[in-house]
Amino acid sequence: MRVTVCGASGLLGNALMREWAGDEVTGLRSKDADIRDARQVAKAVLDSRPDWIVLAAAYTDVDGCEKHPALAFDINVQGAVNVADAAKRSGVRLLFLSSDYVFDGSNGSPYETTDPRKPLNVYGRTKAEAEERLLEIIPNCCIVRTSWLFGRGGKCFPDTILDLARTRTEIDVVNDQRGSPTYNTDLARAIIGLCRDGATGIVHVTNAGHCTWYDFAKTIIDDEGLKTSVRPTTGENFARPAARPKYSVLSPRSLHQHHITMPSWQDALGRYLSQRKSQALPLAR
Ligand SMILES: NC(=O)c1ccc[n+]([C@@H]2O[C@H](COP(=O)([O-])OP(=O)(O)OC[C@H]3O[C@@H](n4cnc5c(N)ncnc54)[C@H](OP(=O)(O)O)[C@@H]3O)[C@@H](O)[C@H]2O)c1
Repeated sequence: MRVTVCGASGLLGNALMREWAGDEVTGLRSKDADIRDARQVAKAVLDSRPDWIVLAAAYTDVDGCEKHPALAFDINVQGAVNVADAAKRSGVRLLFLSSDYVFDGSNGSPYETTDPRKPLNVYGRTKAEAEERLLEIIPNCCIVRTSWLFGRGGKCFPDTILDLARTRTEIDVVNDQRGSPTYNTDLARAIIGLCRDGATGIVHVTNAGHCTWYDFAKTIIDDEGLKTSVRPTTGENFARPAARPKYSVLSPRSLHQHHITMPSWQDALGRYLSQRKSQALPLAR
């Protein structure tokens, strides 16, 4: 199988390029093909002649999207449409990365793939619109919604917490937003499995279990045996440009239909922290 990964330089893209063995994989960065430019995308698809495109390229700065909505729609919606158009013309299967932020967080139980989209912020609106447009262009495309990504290859929450812990004795972390941390390595493995399984439709892929950002930070500090005190705070006290859903846990039912199960987020975090230690990874900033 031949695969083209758009967004190969990102947090997920790095993991996909590391983990994907046994197939012919081409990784594209924005300087190889800017997805906003339909001609660049068409040429990249013709050159790499893939069976699958994994579209992990996006404008992912959630607060940046509030400040630059036109750019966000250009990359996350028009860019995705350009890739889907090129995939359709060449008869290529498409797997598109989407987000838990397509939901507003008012559910009291894990979101199913059939729950209606109701984004709270610009980033979520771009992802929700892209999902709808892509399903119109390629009805059998696969849409993988994930959340709270961490791992080697980009800026991520555990690195930020460990960076803060070096200079602070106390850190305040939001305790009223609940979701599922997801290790890029585990997500990459699941995506590889989904492509090999010929997956179609919406699939939710996160590590198992859920927590608040406070729980996540506390576990990072405790696992590392640090003395920094982690204090719970609220989203209201930690105002940011983009509103965040208070509850964005995704049900794994759609993933289990492909006979793929994900390790718990605590297990995934433990593996990431040991990997950082064993490879003395520098903090991504
Ligand atoms: N991070 C999360 O917590 C999270 C949560 C839910 C869903 N997701 C989704 O998962 C996917 C992967 O996220 P990530 O965290 O790996 O992203 P990331 O680290 O921010 O990387 C973004 C990637 O997109 C590429 N890109 C940006 N603008 C581009 C453009 N105009 N043309 C072509 N490529 C462009 C970047 O390329 P260059 O670096 O070469 O510019 C980079 O490879 C995204 O679709 C994201 O929305 C992420």
